[in-house]
Amino acid sequence: MKLHLPLLLSTITLSAAFLSPPPPTHSTTALYQRSLGFETRNLYTREETEQMKVQSKVRHYIRKIRSKIAITPLGKKVLVSGFEPEDPSATMVLDFLNNEEAKLYFPFDSIVAHVPDGKIAKKRMIGRNARYTGLLDKLEFSEGETLIPTMEQLAGVNSWVVHVAGGDMDVLGKVVEAAEGAVDVKNVAILVSGAGGVDQKALAEMEGMVKSKATSFDYTVVVVPEWNDVPEAQCAYGVVNATDVAEVPFAAGETFSREESLRIVTECLAINGAKGKFVVANAFPDKTSVEGMLIQSMRETGFSRIEEVGMMVMNGSKGCMQLIEDMSKPRATPVDTRTPEEKAAEEAKAEQLRKERRAQMLEEQKVQERQEKIETRARKWAEREFYRRSLRSRLEMRQDEFIQMIWDRALLEGELEMRYDDGDIDPPEMEEKRRQWKEQQREKSKATLAANVQRIQEMMKKEIESY
Ligand SMILES: *[C@@H]1O[C@H](CO)[C@@H](O)[C@H](O)[C@H]1NC(C)=O
Ligand SMILES: *[C@@H]1O[C@H](CO)[C@@H](O)[C@H](O)[C@H]1NC(C)=O
Repeated sequence: MKLHLPLLLSTITLSAAFLSPPPPTHSTTALYQRSLGFETRNLYTREETEQMKVQSKVRHYIRKIRSKIAITPLGKKVLVSGFEPEDPSATMVLDFLNNEEAKLYFPFDSIVAHVPDGKIAKKRMIGRNARYTGLLDKLEFSEGETLIPTMEQLAGVNSWVVHVAGGDMDVLGKVVEAAEGAVDVKNVAILVSGAGGVDQKALAEMEGMVKSKATSFDYTVVVVPEWNDVPEAQCAYGVVNATDVAEVPFAAGETFSREESLRIVTECLAINGAKGKFVVANAFPDKTSVEGMLIQSMRETGFSRIEEVGMMVMNGSKGCMQLIEDMSKPRATPVDTRTPEEKAAEEAKAEQLRKERRAQMLEEQKVQERQEKIETRARKWAEREFYRRSLRSRLEMRQDEFIQMIWDRALLEGELEMRYDDGDIDPPEMEEKRRQWKEQQREKSKATLAANVQRIQEMMKKEIESY
């Protein structure tokens, strides 16, 4: 089940419905030519340009969603089973559970390896660095022919990481039964590998069985095809819900990194949001796949491995596509409940208001401009007047002082000049205006004088009365 870009693009525009496996298209990795430093504008096909758009959306999404991973309390004792001591997976799983960085969420002080033969396992599974990593102090062995420990062996075990090889459904059923029967077991992470042959129906059955039987513990089931030896974090991967698989989860001959699958399943043990998940993981070597972009963006953004795994298992590329789709939707506008008549009336009213406001603004602007012109002329008139008078007699003041003193008169002259230029007034009328103005000034100063006289009289009266 691989999601390739052309199809993913249609999921963006059409719907987020899951699609059946597309034909493999190992299209170009033109995205990476960007760093080559030559003119690339016309190097891309339309499809590639679209891919870049998706990539930038994915980046944006990743930056937005960097979510806090809620951690499940796991207890002090973990048991691992189903790992062949001869296979590298046996030491890998111990490393992941005893990892220095993982100590925050793997608080185990006891790690039990359940194996057919403890002596052989000790030799194979205790590496040279087991002493200084502290593994030696924690590691215990329990023996049993199958990967299912007895109830006594499971006593005190809080968490269980189990590997079911060969996609074996019957074994999966027994694991669930044992966990259900063990009172202390609260968290189980199950890795089913070698599941290349399973189909959608088998997955649905498995999931149904686990869901119905697991009542006393939390679980995550991760299903992968045959293992390969690629180290973890080398290749992008995708995770889908088993319920979203169309027909078959894996292509013929498809493989998955052993180490990556162990990383995913052990981190899932601690991830709260991975509880109850039954997922399928595929490798996505194609860097232009959405999975490739997602994983790359997370790694560039500095996601820790548990954050990355959490994101992929909880949300997957499906969640990513959904969010990208939601992000590109225009915001909903409130519903308009007005009748067409009301709407038209409101619009007409608004338009009328706009017109009035515009007219008013124009009018104000005109008045303002006229006033500025008047003031310019007034200033020129005052300057000429200052010059004229200074020719006649020495003036005991500076020009600006003079202008300030006669400014009211200057404004009148500016306005008259303006109106004369506009053809709005003739010289006799101008004379009449000046006369009126002088009259007004006289009235004003008379009033001022009267007021002053009155004030002085009152002052004197008070003065006299005080004797
Ligand atoms: C991811 O999944 C979790 C759990 O299903 C959900 O709470 C969260 O909102 C999802 N986040 C994104 C970004 O889709
Ligand atoms: C699994 O399904 C849930 C619910 O539909 C969805 O939110 C989530 O993104 C899916 N997870 C993956 C890994 O596709």
